[in-house]
Amino acid sequence: MKTVLFAASEGLPFIKSGGLADVVGSLPQSLKQCGYEVRIVLPYYKKIRDKFADKLEYIGNRQIYSGWINEPANYYQSVVDGITYYFVEHYGYFGRDQLYGYDDDSARFGFFQKAVLELLYHINWYPDIIHTHDWHTGMIPLMCHALYGSDWRFEKIKHVYTIHNLAFQGNFHESVLNNCLGLDYRYYQDGSVRFDNGISFMKSGLVYADKITTVSPTYSHEILTSEYGERMEEVLRYRHDDLWGIVNGINTNEWNPKEDKLLAKNYNAKAWINGKKANKRALQQELGLEVKDDVMLIGLVSRLTNQKGVYMITEKMNEIMSLNVQFCILGTGEENAENSFKWLEHNYKGRAVYYCGYNEELAHRVYAGSDLFLMPSIYEPCGIGQLIAMHYGALPLVRETGGLKDTVKPYNQYTGEGNGFSFWSKNPNDMMYTIRWASEQYYLNKDGWKQLVSNAMNTDVSWDNSARLYSELYKQLTD
Ligand code: ADP
Ligand code: GLC
Repeated sequence: MKTVLFAASEGLPFIKSGGLADVVGSLPQSLKQCGYEVRIVLPYYKKIRDKFADKLEYIGNRQIYSGWINEPANYYQSVVDGITYYFVEHYGYFGRDQLYGYDDDSARFGFFQKAVLELLYHINWYPDIIHTHDWHTGMIPLMCHALYGSDWRFEKIKHVYTIHNLAFQGNFHESVLNNCLGLDYRYYQDGSVRFDNGISFMKSGLVYADKITTVSPTYSHEILTSEYGERMEEVLRYRHDDLWGIVNGINTNEWNPKEDKLLAKNYNAKAWINGKKANKRALQQELGLEVKDDVMLIGLVSRLTNQKGVYMITEKMNEIMSLNVQFCILGTGEENAENSFKWLEHNYKGRAVYYCGYNEELAHRVYAGSDLFLMPSIYEPCGIGQLIAMHYGALPLVRETGGLKDTVKPYNQYTGEGNGFSFWSKNPNDMMYTIRWASEQYYLNKDGWKQLVSNAMNTDVSWDNSARLYSELYKQLTD
């Protein structure tokens, strides 16, 4: 059986700040069905310790020498649904409240990446493939090659690097190369990891991995352009032949309106009308919205950042509220956006509500209780929100970019085809026009709406197809 190690900075069920954790927590299960043994390694954050300490088994430690770093890593393990998770513990680096955003992130993730490679000695297990994700693990292909390449067990390992978000690049001062990663300065001099007169963990992944993937076909094309390339487009064009776009799926066991215990009432793709109604009422009650059936409830579950198009929403929120709608927002992020939504709730008591925070359980109920799910992202590598929304019968209204374009088929009123609504430009008027049009369908074209909800709930959002594509990719490297 071929073996794969996933190295990532977050993964469910242990730790999540966004869609990366959804992917790392669910794709391995489907790869298992395709015949791979996948194990996962994550940093042991404080949030993991607070919630899961009693479920993790200590399996020993190793001294990590990485440039100036000379510190022990404690290793833990836990098996969930037949998948082994490893955790790298270092109290100073990871025993903190947040996952990212510290001044010493270069040292934290430098230590992590070296500790991932040392873990292989420790457990005496050398996978066929190391599959790394985003900048936090982007140096692993180079480190494996440069620091361990003389050992055939490491030498034979192939590397797949997945871009989940090209905007976060892990760019640091060039001294990090030597100080935190123990790598020769020549990788800066030869330009391979150099970026903006410093070094970039993201770029290193793009240069040194055997194959690169990103999380939707459309994003894989977009990032070759200067509009979406985040100044990595040249490198990506150079690696174009090795770049695959594979769309994400969701964990349909975890996200399943048929069995979801967090909902007021369960429902399925065949019989959803009463279930959606009951969940809408329960959500209205829970959040202090006026309890009524015949109103279109718009949901938003998101990081509130520019990426997600929040400024289009805040610009148009009064116009949105001028329609006969209720608006429920769950998310945290940029202060301006948070303040706007606080103001919105205050001004439209009973019709708009803003839950400022991260709340996994409430998210389930927002997806189940909403009619329309707003996701007008400026760019979106894939997007998990719209997939969950469709599966829960909330029609996504999205901007046609990245994975949103690949997964949401806009309503065609003549053929009845589609599973949501979409618009193309970054002009908030176009978003508003589409929201208005969607609300007309909701109120005036009830049969069309029902058809759309059924289409959405019947859309295949599982990992089945995509896991097969990953397995094809792995095969190209290992056969
Ligand atoms: P990104 O990873 O860019 O934030 P995705 O759409 O890929 O966007 O994934 C976001 C994930 O995080 C989804 O599973 C969504 O439900 C979840 N999420 C985002 N914000 C919140 C929140 N405030 N509370 C609960 N879940 C959230
Ligand atoms: C990133 C992207 C998002 C994607 C997720 C998982 O957070 O912003 O579009 O769905 O990664 O791949």
